[in-house]
Amino acid sequence: MQTKHQKLKAYFVELFQQEPLLVKSPGRVNIIGEHTDYNGGFVLPGAIDKAATVALSLRNDDEIHLVALDLNEKFTCNVASLKPVADINWPNYMLGSAAQFVKRGVKLPGFNAVLSSDVPMGAGLSSSAAVESAVVFGLNELLQTKLDRITMVEMAQKAEHEYAGVFCGIMDQFASIMGKKDHLMKLDCRNLSYEHVPFKLEGIKILLLNTNVKHSLASSEYNTRRKECMQAVVWIQAHHPEVTSLRDVTLEMLNKHVLPKNKTIHQRSRFVVEEINRLITGCEDLQKGDINALGKKMFETHDGLSNMYGVSCKELDFLVDFVKNRNEVIGSRMMGGGFGGCTINLVYENTIEQLIADIKPAYENAMGLQLDYYIASIENGSEII
Ligand code: GLA
Repeated sequence: MQTKHQKLKAYFVELFQQEPLLVKSPGRVNIIGEHTDYNGGFVLPGAIDKAATVALSLRNDDEIHLVALDLNEKFTCNVASLKPVADINWPNYMLGSAAQFVKRGVKLPGFNAVLSSDVPMGAGLSSSAAVESAVVFGLNELLQTKLDRITMVEMAQKAEHEYAGVFCGIMDQFASIMGKKDHLMKLDCRNLSYEHVPFKLEGIKILLLNTNVKHSLASSEYNTRRKECMQAVVWIQAHHPEVTSLRDVTLEMLNKHVLPKNKTIHQRSRFVVEEINRLITGCEDLQKGDINALGKKMFETHDGLSNMYGVSCKELDFLVDFVKNRNEVIGSRMMGGGFGGCTINLVYENTIEQLIADIKPAYENAMGLQLDYYIASIENGSEII
């Protein structure tokens, strides 16, 4: 039987009569540190065993031919007229990535690209960053631009800003390109320094529960949250000019300079300041092997994301509430931008089957939506296949 990579390659060869380069870039999980990346804080992501795979080849003309194999959709344009397209998302992730080479002064010829991905879309697992990362990584190889991985991370992030209109932080593209098997990355988003944190817990698995709520609000509300955080920084800067992001801010500063001005913005920024601290102490828990303390913090993160940061939804809250008092679940919270997608759960492996048997019908009855689940393993980042 053909593997999915063989299938992708065979499809490509038949369509374009060329041998493609195959690149794989994964989705990600994030254990703790949510909505902290664009605030100069820390995150703790890892790349997972679900990935976007892109088959690519250069052309002798100026044409760009894109195919989304799983959607059975095609898109064609020219290098000379590269710009974001309205109404469909997936070409933008690919075009935005290609555009970054042009911006760097690289001579970009036309190219062919066929995409296939098993990162579920809109599930908070960074399906778009996986595509952007794969295209940047693949074009770097084909064009022999010899860019280092961090530069590629930044280019993939720019693709999302400029072509998808979401002013995301650096976490997703970083995890996709820099991932290391069985390791998380403690990334300092202020200067992109990072350390690999071993993450292989005996008898414990990462269980993702997918609400199947597509986060339609996510991009507009995401950009709003980002502005709210910036507003808090501007108010504080009037008194503390040395402050450049919420990373430099204390709860005292927030109480003094933000609370009197706007309660909502105070709540938002307080969550971020607390979350940055939670991550730092959560990493210490991990180092000490105190997984229960880390799990407790994940529940606190969820609480803050739901009640202070305002990016949860009733379906995510339902899933976290359901597991809260079950001893077999060490920690649980919504993950990613919010408004839908998955919860991430640290669960004792031998109890997963029973948990699913209980939570799936309960969720489906209460919410009228299907509950999907995946057990995620932590894998390497972008690679040529
Ligand atoms: C999305 C963004 C990331 C990050 C998370 C929230 O996944 O792409 O940059 O901000 O939301 O932590």
